[in-house]
Parts: sequence; structure tokens; C-alpha cells
Amino acid sequence: MMGRTQEERKREHYYRAAKKHGYRSRSAYKLRQVIAKHKLLTGVNVVLELCCCPGGWTQVLRELDSSLSVVAVDIESMIPIEGVTFLQGDITEPKTIETIKTLTGGRVDLVLSDCSPKVSGAWDIDVARQLFLVEKTFEIASELLSVKGKVLAKVFQGRGFQELMETLRTRFRFVKLVKPEASRRTSAEIYILAESPVRLGSNKETS
Ligand SMILES: C[S@@+](CC[C@H](N)C(=O)[O-])C[C@H]1O[C@@H](n2cnc3c(N)ncnc32)[C@H](O)[C@@H]1O
Repeated sequence: MMGRTQEERKREHYYRAAKKHGYRSRSAYKLRQVIAKHKLLTGVNVVLELCCCPGGWTQVLRELDSSLSVVAVDIESMIPIEGVTFLQGDITEPKTIETIKTLTGGRVDLVLSDCSPKVSGAWDIDVARQLFLVEKTFEIASELLSVKGKVLAKVFQGRGFQELMETLRTRFRFVKLVKPEASRRTSAEIYILAESPVRLGSNKETS
């Protein structure tokens, strides 16, 4: 296992790199690494990004492919990013979901979700709240994803994580866990990459 000092050095490295590059978050590097390794943007035109603030991931999307259509959502306000449609709203609220449908035109190829609730300090509560945001992410994704659509969602490996994975394996053709190098080895966060939703109750697939 990686020692604490090495972990701290890694953190510092990405902090400095993000600052130098003008990224709003260190986690911009996590997305860059997942995109590169898993060819996440291949075949993607429309992206829905949930929990986007302060906007590091959004910057990466624009940087890597300025032709993408990006709708980004957060409960907080965000300093605008050119070419991105930003919606301030709570993703657990039906009215936000309705607006997302309107803004995306009802079809997206990729859903990104890096949601973290306001930290309470009590691990069980934070895990439960984060899991709720992940469940909302997949609910929204299931309504909007195209046939070969993909979801990349952060989740904390705590209570409810295994059950979630089992459910997702019945709902998507491909589900895997990815841990980008920029994510601390010792942190409980991991990313679920799910591809090609199974359309329930129909053998017919629409694009
Ligand atoms: C770790 S940050 C995302 C960082 C982002 N990926 C970046 O690179 O800048 C988590 C975000 O989740 C947002 N969030 C938490 N609960 C939310 C909710 N119910 N609806 C929308 N956004 C939420 C927070 O406001 C916060 O901005």
C-alpha cells in the first residue's frame, strides 16, 4: 500500500499541475485519465455533466473536444465556461430533471457525475447521501441515454455499494469500476463506468 507521504506528494503534484494549467479542480486529471484510458468521448456528441462545480471536468470536456454539446448542472453557481449550458439546480428535484430534459433535447450519449454531498463528518451519513446522488444520476441517465450511451459516476465504497453494482449489472451491458491514478489510493471513492443500457420491456432499440 502507498505510504501517506507518497499520497501527500501525489496530491500536491496534481494541485500544482491544476493551478499551472488553469484547471478549477485537481479532479480534472481524474477525468482526463479515464477519458484517455477508456476512450470515453468516442462516438459522443451530447454530454450531461451532473455536479459539475467548480468546473474542472467541464474545462476538460471543452478542451478535448470543443464540438461537444455540454449541459452541466450543479446546486451551486458556476463561473461560466464558454460553449457550455449551465443549469443551477438540485439533481434530486423533479423540476431540475425536467429542465435537464429540455436543455439536452431528451437524448445524451454520456452522463458524467462527480457528486459529493456537503460533508457532515459522520461517515455513514455521508455515504448514504452520496449513494442517493448516484442513484439519482442513474435514474436520470436511464431516461436520457442513447443506445450505446455511457455513464461515469463517482461512488463511495460503503454501505449499499455492492447492491448498487448488482442492480447496475442487470441494467447495463457493460459495467466496470475504474480508479484513475489521480484519485488517492486510500480514498473510498471509485468510478463506475456503465455502458449500453438494457431497454426493459422491449427488444427494440431506438437511437
Ligand atoms: C467534488 S465536486 C465536483 C467537482 C467537479 N467534477 C470538478 O472537477 O470541478 C461535487 C459537487 O457536487 C455538487 N452537488 C452536491 N449535491 C448536489 C445536488 N443535490 N444537486 C446538484 N449538485 C450537487 C456540489 O455542489 C459540488 O459542486
